[in-house]
Amino acid sequence: MASPDILARAAALRQEIERHNYAYYVLDAPTVPDAEYDRLFRELQALEAEYPELATPDSPTCRVGGQPLDEFPKVRHAVPMLSIRTETDTTAAGARAFDARVRKELGLASDDAPVEYHAELKFDGLAINLRYEQGVLVAAATRGDGETGEAVSQNVRTVRAIPLRLHTDTPPAVLEVRGEVYMRRDDFERYNAKQREASKPTLVNPRNGAAGSIRQLDPAIAAQRPLSFFAYGLGEVQGWRDAPATHSATLDALVKLGVPVCAERRVCRGADELVAFHAEIAARRDQLPFDIDGVVYKVNRLDLQRDLGFVTREPRWAVAHKYPAQEELTVVEAIEVQVGRTGALTPVARLVPVFVGGVTVTNATLHNQDEIDRKDVRVGDTVIVRRAGDVIPEVVAVVLDRRPQPAPPRFDILQSHPVCPECGSHVVRLEGEAAARCTGGLYCPAQRKQALLHFASRRAMDIEGLGDKLIEQLVDRGLVRTPADVYRLDAETLSRLDRMAERSAANLLAAIEASKSTTLARFIFALGIRNVGEATAKDLARHFGELDRLVAATAEDLMTVREVGPIVAQSIVQFFAEPHNLDVVGRLRAAGVHWPESAGVQQSAGILAGKTLVLTGTLPTLTREVAKERIEAAGGKVAGSVSKKTDYVVAGEDAGSKLAKAQELGVTILDEAALLALLEPDNRTQQQFDF
Ligand code: IVH
Repeated sequence: MASPDILARAAALRQEIERHNYAYYVLDAPTVPDAEYDRLFRELQALEAEYPELATPDSPTCRVGGQPLDEFPKVRHAVPMLSIRTETDTTAAGARAFDARVRKELGLASDDAPVEYHAELKFDGLAINLRYEQGVLVAAATRGDGETGEAVSQNVRTVRAIPLRLHTDTPPAVLEVRGEVYMRRDDFERYNAKQREASKPTLVNPRNGAAGSIRQLDPAIAAQRPLSFFAYGLGEVQGWRDAPATHSATLDALVKLGVPVCAERRVCRGADELVAFHAEIAARRDQLPFDIDGVVYKVNRLDLQRDLGFVTREPRWAVAHKYPAQEELTVVEAIEVQVGRTGALTPVARLVPVFVGGVTVTNATLHNQDEIDRKDVRVGDTVIVRRAGDVIPEVVAVVLDRRPQPAPPRFDILQSHPVCPECGSHVVRLEGEAAARCTGGLYCPAQRKQALLHFASRRAMDIEGLGDKLIEQLVDRGLVRTPADVYRLDAETLSRLDRMAERSAANLLAAIEASKSTTLARFIFALGIRNVGEATAKDLARHFGELDRLVAATAEDLMTVREVGPIVAQSIVQFFAEPHNLDVVGRLRAAGVHWPESAGVQQSAGILAGKTLVLTGTLPTLTREVAKERIEAAGGKVAGSVSKKTDYVVAGEDAGSKLAKAQELGVTILDEAALLALLEPDNRTQQQFDF
């Protein structure tokens, strides 16, 4: 006899399952992941099995899905759309248990031949019945409660994979094709990216994308969703001459009729081959272009299927063998931020540990503030976490009806992290950018290695020998924290590093020393200010002439510089507003880093403004790099190849095909002396600049 506690538990389970059914099937807004739903369902099934008096005719265990939507016309299925038994043992034993049951039901002895099965994928979408009369698609319906579904013909017609007419001159009088409407992962990603760009709502996951689209009342909306279809069986059939005798031959016949059938399928003999199929697909699950939640085994011979029949709406001849769930429920304990190499602050949800996608997950990325806003994730929320393959676990959605009351506050990165958790510098969010960023730049340990590598690079301070391996060691051993520390290195310290011979240490120190004498443009570029590339650094140096004037410039001042717009201006202002950065700049100057300063050139249109030059051959005194810098400083552009648009070709010794091309096109050819003469007026400013 069931105790009052057990009665109450069964009632509570039914109510909860009904609520999830309604949310999932009717509202298309899932409240829990499948794995959680399955657990509740199994618990109820187990209770009803143990205490048969608990079973009620309206128990969710007695039916297949949810109520049909009121808005769609209802259709009664000519042949009920049944559910399929789920083998929850995700190990090989699941397949063996199914085979053993089938053999027993068929009365086979252990020495009888293996049973022939058809193994296929369990697609994660929405079950659909397509009714073809005389070869023409006349109706399409969802499964609904298995007896009655919703007529969704309009929407189904928008799925291009579904033929409107079967490819045959002798169609059966009636042929109902059953299968799954689903959304490919790449289509899902593309669709969401487009929606995000347009600030429109995104889809939660591909399955919901498919189910939600088919159940849109407006077929124009469904038509915009990229849906696909795979057939896996039949409903009512009338007048099919030469109807196949096996399931595999049925699917082959459907392919010939123009109906899509997934190619990942196989006839298997006995349990071993089912086990092999299960393992093989598991290994490739993440590489498939669409989501599956398991594989399905079916007895292949249709006469044996008929012999085996059904138990409570589930066929004895088929089973779904699941894989570990890729979505699970857990609770957000905290939201923290991680600082990336570019200073971007990535919010991360710290989770109550949960086993999902084959591993225990304790963190999930929340990407950025926009994503947090879109999903409205708050500390204390119960969330659906997804981990598929090697992809970083992510929070898919919040289960709103499990939000603690009173509701915790919304999470705002700038509010919770006004300063960087790594270095204490200010955090800002630039207009038009998704990420909040630490302004610590040179000073922030999270950005240190990247900042140093950039600082030492050839086009910046040009410290030869200070590459990524060395920076790695220097930073990891705490010998260098900011670029200013580079100028404090000595032979003794360097000699203690791995793979650092005396000679290379001496070369490095010489390169460090030589880098102290630089140009303002190189120095500005070396600072690694966001959005300030080499060309902008040159424009800034030319315009302001002195570092202090650049540091003091307002956004308006900055925007008077050629090519500097509001975003670049904002980046510069924020960089120099950060005291830590000013400190590093001060220490670099104190260490002896210097450059010639000037009054600056407010009008930055140089003598070569708008002109394109090509360098070829070896010039007598200028290196190619210096020649390029001088041309650019005079407003010119240096291109790699000669065309009709080239204004001048500067040719040195051993000039080859570029010179010939210039002669052919009649482009003016200069030697170094002619170039210098051309630059003469600018040369005066250049000398002050020491470019
Ligand atoms: S056969 C009588 N084959 O799984 C057997 N179902 O409960 C009818 N599904 O929502 C189902 N892939 O839409 C079958 N290869 C497959 C399937 C498949 C996915 C879905 C089906 C239904 C559920 C079965």
